[in-house]
Amino acid sequence: MITPRYDVITIFPDYMSPLSLSLIGKAEERGLLTTKVTDLRNFATGVHKSVDDTPYGGGAGMVMSPVPWGEAIDAVAHEAEADGYEEHTLIILTPAGRKLDQALAYELAQRKHLIFACGRYEGIDYRITEHYSARPQFKVMEVSIGDYVLGGGEVATLVILEAVIRLIPGVIGNAESLKEESHTLVDEETEPLVEYPNYTKPPVWRDLEVPTELVSGNHGLIAKWRAAKARERTEKLKD
Ligand code: ADE
Repeated sequence: MITPRYDVITIFPDYMSPLSLSLIGKAEERGLLTTKVTDLRNFATGVHKSVDDTPYGGGAGMVMSPVPWGEAIDAVAHEAEADGYEEHTLIILTPAGRKLDQALAYELAQRKHLIFACGRYEGIDYRITEHYSARPQFKVMEVSIGDYVLGGGEVATLVILEAVIRLIPGVIGNAESLKEESHTLVDEETEPLVEYPNYTKPPVWRDLEVPTELVSGNHGLIAKWRAAKARERTEKLKD
């Protein structure tokens, strides 16, 4: 069985060092997935190895050149193809993309090869989106992690990978814990709710007691309390 492979292309490879930590690092150590970071600068030509230029049509800022991006994406795709990955999902990080939510995280967790293109400045020449959208082995997705502008796609990539990787079978020891967490669709009719509040020991902390329902030992009562709290918390977010 082929395990998921996650490629990240960036001009700041060091930004991706958290990939070797915690859940993601452990999952890779256990052979559940592979991550690889590629320095875009290695595909830049010219004395200055520049990767950006002024925008056609004028305006502030710089736009990343499609030339090194095309070379880097092709190289990454070739290497993956040699390892048996036939289809590539190219994720272009941009505040103009589809907003990340738990449904998108589940969708991405189904795909075997993700390539994250971390743009900086005013983003990547749009012909990268156009070109790879026309190539049958590629599926292109422009993704945003929220309505604010970051300096580049690196942190957004870490956010997406953290959301996706924990959904890969085997990464989280107790798969049951995925079922009840926030934003997970319980059935087709209901909207996804955020999770109910959780408590652990001690039973009293700074005069605050754990809700009596949770210590009642009555599973029906606990389930009812949790369902009501999840709904209440979800409604509160709408204010
Ligand atoms: N690059 C800059 N801002 C971003 C955002 N909000 N999401 C994804 N990539 C970005």
